[in-house]
Amino acid sequence: MKSMSSCCAAALTATALLGAPAQATETGLQAWAKVHEVFSHPRCANCHVDAGGVPIWSGASYGAKPRAHGMNVQGGASRIGAENGLLCTTCHAHHNAGLPHGPPGAHVWLLAPVAMQWWGKTSAEICAQIKDPARNGGRTLAQVAEHVAKDELVGWGWNPGPGREPAPYSAERTAAFIKDWAGQGAPCPPP
Ligand code: HEC
Ligand code: HEC
Repeated sequence: MKSMSSCCAAALTATALLGAPAQATETGLQAWAKVHEVFSHPRCANCHVDAGGVPIWSGASYGAKPRAHGMNVQGGASRIGAENGLLCTTCHAHHNAGLPHGPPGAHVWLLAPVAMQWWGKTSAEICAQIKDPARNGGRTLAQVAEHVAKDELVGWGWNPGPGREPAPYSAERTAAFIKDWAGQGAPCPPP
């Protein structure tokens, strides 16, 4: 009984501090909208593709319409192109090529796992999967934020090489949006 009443008192205090739950949801959804703006940006979504394993070329520097990666590149189930013998690292080096339309580069270069597909998914779908440890690499939301703040490959999205528009905001600000969203109960938009 004692622990139950302290639990509920704490919950009431939290509600009083945060204001009405509806307001918290609204603030949380606004934070999610910023996270989604980044995750759905071409610099991120081009690699977070479906089981077909074809990286996408999209964004202003690739022309008006998204298209499949040129040269018949396929990531396959390995996500590194092992199946057809043309590895990503044949062209993608550890650094961006110095000229527009040269291959971008980072310390590693491969497609995200199929469970982390964002390309072609709605905001609600990406929101649900990012909260699901079975589909986010076994991470808490604090660890997702940490990954965005620190991971070098994610960081490439803000340093994508000549001619490509970087993802919006910054790694640090995106991590902060994730923390804000998580702090408001990580609400997802309706499907
Ligand atoms: C070159 C391909 C590539 C690009 C570009 C890329 N990612 Fe990823 N992403 C990956 C791979 C591979 C993983 C799996 C690594 C892991 O889980 O440790 C991953 C995993 C993630 C995860 C953790 C899993 C999840 O879905 O919750 C997040 C968050 C993430 N990426 C964010 C981003 C953001 C933000 C950008 C753009 C700024 C981006 N990524 C751009 C390949 C990419
Ligand atoms: C034959 C060389 C070659 C191979 C192999 C290759 N790429 Fe690329 N890739 C390129 C070039 C060149 C570009 C940039 C084209 C441009 O900017 O117009 C590029 C661009 C990309 C982009 C777009 C990045 C962005 O958002 O601007 C992604 C994603 C990508 N490659 C993923 C991969 C993956 C994953 C593999 C392995 C499965 C791979 N590539 C294999 C040459 C290659």
